[in-house]
Amino acid sequence: GCNSDNSRGSLIVLEGLDRSGKTSQSHRLVSHLKDKGVSVELWRFPDRTTAVGQMISAYLANESELDDRAIHLLFSANRWEKRSLMESKLRSGISLIVDRYSYSGVAFSSAKGLDLEWCKAPEVGLVAPDLVIYLDISAEKASERGGYGAERYEQLEFQKKVAETYHTLYDDSWKIIDGCLPVEAVEEQLRELALGTVLSCQKGKPLSKLWS
Ligand code: TYD
Repeated sequence: GCNSDNSRGSLIVLEGLDRSGKTSQSHRLVSHLKDKGVSVELWRFPDRTTAVGQMISAYLANESELDDRAIHLLFSANRWEKRSLMESKLRSGISLIVDRYSYSGVAFSSAKGLDLEWCKAPEVGLVAPDLVIYLDISAEKASERGGYGAERYEQLEFQKKVAETYHTLYDDSWKIIDGCLPVEAVEEQLRELALGTVLSCQKGKPLSKLWS
């Protein structure tokens, strides 16, 4: 039979510590996929363009103070406010490469000492990614890369804790890429993984929900 009715875009998430290379790799991946004729957009969380995103941005810049649980819920709200647009893009055949998603939400907040299950709860029901790629780099190596910026979480000791909490989130579906490899090698692995996922979603792999 014809399964083009179920054809859709794929949701591909890149995760990793600050300075792991996600952002430049996600740009490279999007332009490669475009060259291949894939209809694709680059997204990122936090999405700082919304009202909620501006509160997050001020917090990250140390311009405001917020309770740890309050900022956690804002990061989550920032994903929820984009959920329906995300779903309609995917259903219309557009693939999304997303720089950080719920896993960042859980990894960074639980690194502060918040309960892992409490951190996951507000993420339940968001669109589940078709592929999660973790750019694996140690906190030490990451901190050597041109140094951290001035944002709140960009500190070695904290990033070490984030790396630990990321490790507790791993499951078999995650693809881990060694973030210390040369840029081109990381890029090549990303391309292969992403193209495979785009293809399986075009063939009608159903959309599912996160952590339910
Ligand atoms: P990001 O915008 O990716 O960092 P940068 O401006 O350096 O490119 O993310 C900002 C910070 O927010 C980063 O340290 C990770 C953190 N974060 C959370 O704590 N929770 C979340 O849900 C997300 C998406 C990011």
